[in-house]
Amino acid sequence: MKILGFSGSSRKNDVSGVYKLVETVFENTGIAYDLISLRGKKIGGCIACLGCVKDNMCKINDDMTALREKIVEADALVIGSPNYYSNVNAITHALLERWFQFRHRGNDDLWGKLVVAVGVGGGEGLSPANVIEQICNYNLIETVAKVTGQGAASCYSCGYGETCSVSIPVMQYGKEVKITEDMIPDVCKQAEVMKLAANAGKNLNERLNSGHDPKIVAQNVQKKLMEQMAA
Ligand SMILES: Cc1cc2nc3c(=O)[nH]c(=O)nc-3n(C[C@H](O)[C@H](O)[C@H](O)COP(=O)(O)O)c2cc1C
Repeated sequence: MKILGFSGSSRKNDVSGVYKLVETVFENTGIAYDLISLRGKKIGGCIACLGCVKDNMCKINDDMTALREKIVEADALVIGSPNYYSNVNAITHALLERWFQFRHRGNDDLWGKLVVAVGVGGGEGLSPANVIEQICNYNLIETVAKVTGQGAASCYSCGYGETCSVSIPVMQYGKEVKITEDMIPDVCKQAEVMKLAANAGKNLNERLNSGHDPKIVAQNVQKKLMEQMAA
């Protein structure tokens, strides 16, 4: 059983809400895992060159090349992204766009895998989790859980959070705001969010160990996707 995860956060692991949540999901699976941070990786978006159509292999040579085989080999994935403008951030989108290489001529490399989608935002984390879910749907991967939490907007640490008129602390608490340690959002202090992450990990373990059949999973996701597209 192989489980692989990505944290799309641009921040160092010890201050990233995304990394902490993805890690918490994994720790609760009880399965050995590989968690890769996309921070600092060079992954460009799909350029629609169609070079992958014949053999389902992307011809762009960057940090995605080394990840391809790991993704194919994984039975399940945990993918986390910060909310950047109500979407996943650019590196996470690039990673997911490049899955276009798997989508040709009935290639089933990704079909029937399971995923937990993780999203963290200074306001909300659901937008990136929904994007991850939808891109996984297109690849016939079932989202077994979405885990979302509130992280610390950069305005809490940039040095101008109390005086900048458009800083998140000013917008949330008003012009007289004094930033204190306890008002800085931290997913680890959000009991409900940590519980969601723990339950998602347990759920993933149960699904993988109770006769996970990728063919049936893929059929079900395709049925839902076709209903969605027909609507
Ligand atoms: C360029 C940029 C855009 C952002 N846009 C949003 C947004 O639209 N909504 C939101 O809730 N948070 C937004 N944020 C805040 C981040 O989602 C927040 O800091 C989150 O904690 C980042 O996750 P991380 O701690 O794992 O890096 C934005 C941050 C950056 C740097």
